[in-house]
Amino acid sequence: MQTTIVEQNFNEIEAEVLIIGVPQHPENINGWDKFVASFSAQLPEWIKSDDVKTDFKKLVKMPAMIKQGYKRVLFIGLGAKNKLTEDRLREVFAAAGKDLADLKTSSVAIWTAPFTNDKLVCEDVVYAAAEGLGLGAYEFEGYKTDSNERDVALETVLFLSSADEEELKAAFEVGKVHAHAVNEARNLVNMPPNILTATEMANYARELAEKHDFEIEVLGKKEMEELGMGAILAVNKGSVEEPQLIVLKYAATDTWEDVVGLVGKGITYDTGGYSIKSKDGMVGMKGDMGGAAAVLGAMSVIGELRPVKNVVAVIAATDNMISGEAFKPDDVITSLSGKTIEVLNTDAEGRLVLADAVTYAKQAGADYLIDVATLTGGVIVALGMDKTGALTNDEAFFEEFMYAATETGEFVWRLPLTESDKKRLRKSDVADLNNSPGRDGHMIFGGGFVGEFVGDTPWIHLDIAGTSNADSAHDLGPKGATGVMVRTLATIVERMADTEL
Ligand code: BES
Ligand code: ZN
Ligand code: ZN
Repeated sequence: MQTTIVEQNFNEIEAEVLIIGVPQHPENINGWDKFVASFSAQLPEWIKSDDVKTDFKKLVKMPAMIKQGYKRVLFIGLGAKNKLTEDRLREVFAAAGKDLADLKTSSVAIWTAPFTNDKLVCEDVVYAAAEGLGLGAYEFEGYKTDSNERDVALETVLFLSSADEEELKAAFEVGKVHAHAVNEARNLVNMPPNILTATEMANYARELAEKHDFEIEVLGKKEMEELGMGAILAVNKGSVEEPQLIVLKYAATDTWEDVVGLVGKGITYDTGGYSIKSKDGMVGMKGDMGGAAAVLGAMSVIGELRPVKNVVAVIAATDNMISGEAFKPDDVITSLSGKTIEVLNTDAEGRLVLADAVTYAKQAGADYLIDVATLTGGVIVALGMDKTGALTNDEAFFEEFMYAATETGEFVWRLPLTESDKKRLRKSDVADLNNSPGRDGHMIFGGGFVGEFVGDTPWIHLDIAGTSNADSAHDLGPKGATGVMVRTLATIVERMADTEL
């Protein structure tokens, strides 16, 4: 997808589709008369009669009038102009993106003026458009033999605007990079578990490293045994697939300091192990590597935009299977940190692999830690499917993070982690910790368990079990993987490069 910025001349557009936003009272838009004159004098009547709608996100397609360079005009209702926000713009363009993909459109022109208001300038519109169009057009190719693979992708986005061309192009680039990375993460999550094994995920990370010049290290079973990564090894014991600890380093400064650690749960399939899931509960567990996908997606953005902040990404990848060799409830395991863990539930495997991954990230120099995981069904019970649950041990870091989440429009809600919760995690007759203190408020125990391994390092835990996958089409994409947290993780790193943190 590439962009060109042109002056607002509606008669010289070279694109298949022209997008026109229609807020209430469009006559107040600077240049509206010019557009009406070039399109059709009847347009104001069509708006009055509701044939062209001003309701938020209502789409109306019309063929272009004669002599115009585009084939169609896509009118999009915007509602009250002063209520428009960047989130709402992103949604509007995602809806348009889906429509354009269905129309097999390869080029589109967007007049920016109707989308602006007191708070939103042309640059914001271009950013939201690049992001929204890319996200909305997403579809997982899948493996059907009569593939419905889209043979036409959106290649050219033209903006009609008189704002600074360089700034608009830069805004477009950021939006485009974000959308691409989210869609890559969505692909990983949507891939079946027999194809996206830990080894394949490591191969994907190798390609990413090559593309963006990251340092990469992949630890297999042997290296894990040498280092004493008893927690991830325990989860992997029932599997025939090799576990992989994937470590990517993005060095932005000469010295390896002030490092942000991004840690992802990469369970490529979660059967629950001997604490086996129900047959219905197991379906969909190919998505149990959503945290890993979010981290890889964020690294893709970081690789493209290259913020001045050192980042280490650590992904713990394995499946959680059953065999004669599998780990079982009552086992006691020794983690990389040296802490011992009594296994009470083999389905609480995410926190185990994260324990070793977080310890490894600290050893690799992380001064800040964010772990991302499809960790508990508990977060869905607590917050529903559309909110990411968070825990933290550092108010300032979390505040900074929330700025990033607000910027990207990804909803995050913090839950408490109290001393009495920690006490229950440390309750065991035989080990330092237990991996499943109970079902009451168990999102907190899942994340809190990971917190036992971070020490004093400022840390944020993100439970995306609800938000990583959508049961039906939503504002920014289709049913299936959402690619949640890719944009927020990338944005927090960008913010940290620009602030004191
Ligand atoms: N992968 C699951 C969590 C999950 C649930 C992800 C639903 C996506 C959708 C996790 O490993 C798990 O099984 N958690 C258990 C923990 C329990 C055994 C303490 C859960 O939440 O039930
Ligand atoms: Zn599980
Ligand atoms: Zn799991």
